[in-house]
Amino acid sequence: MKRNEIIFRLFIAFFLFLPIRAFSIDPVYFGKPLLIKDDRNDYVNAHGGDIKYFNSFFYWYGEDKGVHAASKNGVNIYKSRDLHTWHFIRQGLVSNNYSDLKKGSIVERPKVIYNKLTKKYVMFFHFEKAGAGYSSALIAFATSSNPDGPFNYVRSFRLNRGEYPLNAEASHLNNNGNNFFRDLSSGQMSRDMTVFEDDDGSAYILSSSEGNKTLILSELNNSFTGLTKKFIRIAPGEYNEAPVLFKSKGEYFIICSGSSGWRPNAARLYKSISVWGPWEYVGNPIRSSVTNMKNTFGGQGAFQFSYNNRNIFVLDIWNDKNLSTSNYLFLPIKWDKNGLPFSNNTE
Ligand code: GAL
Repeated sequence: MKRNEIIFRLFIAFFLFLPIRAFSIDPVYFGKPLLIKDDRNDYVNAHGGDIKYFNSFFYWYGEDKGVHAASKNGVNIYKSRDLHTWHFIRQGLVSNNYSDLKKGSIVERPKVIYNKLTKKYVMFFHFEKAGAGYSSALIAFATSSNPDGPFNYVRSFRLNRGEYPLNAEASHLNNNGNNFFRDLSSGQMSRDMTVFEDDDGSAYILSSSEGNKTLILSELNNSFTGLTKKFIRIAPGEYNEAPVLFKSKGEYFIICSGSSGWRPNAARLYKSISVWGPWEYVGNPIRSSVTNMKNTFGGQGAFQFSYNNRNIFVLDIWNDKNLSTSNYLFLPIKWDKNGLPFSNNTE
């Protein structure tokens, strides 16, 4: 064999080998509390976050947590080819002198989606103004032309000011809906949140709203820079937080937690055949001992991601004494005979 041919064959062999290497690490992550090291030998500090696949890399965006919620206000960005070796890119949320994002504000649950029209990566997050605790309850976004960031802060806002939901029948609004009317003119709250992008390119923000009583699903406009005014209220009065929304085989699922701050509680599962509902409560998606079912293995959902036809539910196991040392929990999702997702924390 000529030298060039040997090099060519080695080159092909290398690329054939890549996918095998990429997906052989699952058991390392699954089912147990983890701290994960990055390529600087520091712990991956990316809580309440999101893993996305852009340009042949997995990106992990998440809260740069300090000891307390307000002790840092950043988002860390890591990238990986194989979900195993994580390269720290940067602290990737950039403010300017005039914005309301400053030291002491709270940034939680960042999620990133790509907008084809503007060719921008858009990061949405829960935002609280400095010194105001959790009372601002705003959604905010930042944009970048590169998934590596930096993401430039654009603005923060309340949801659907002065607007009524699509499911605004009297019985729905009267059902524990007092906070809805309280916030009608200022805009509805957005605390714990996630972003969901459907197969048709439409995208939505799902927020814990109305003082955490009710979930609100709001449609994003085409450029992902604001809302269309189309929204629904989900599970009014049920106190759902940490929402995670995903789709599988044409059905939509929400896994969320109850409302007990940093302390874990039982996960809840809702399903629907349309993103616009009606959403039906279908139980606790955890199958395990009573304790694990009651506290979701000690975790609270952050996001779901899929690869290789698998759905993975990723949670934070919060340590409220020092949030930066909170562990992660990767739960492989299985499907029961009724087509519902569940996890018993094993593969
Ligand atoms: C949790 C929420 C976290 C954080 C915390 C503050 O319920 O999921 O993201 O906001 O409350 O107490």
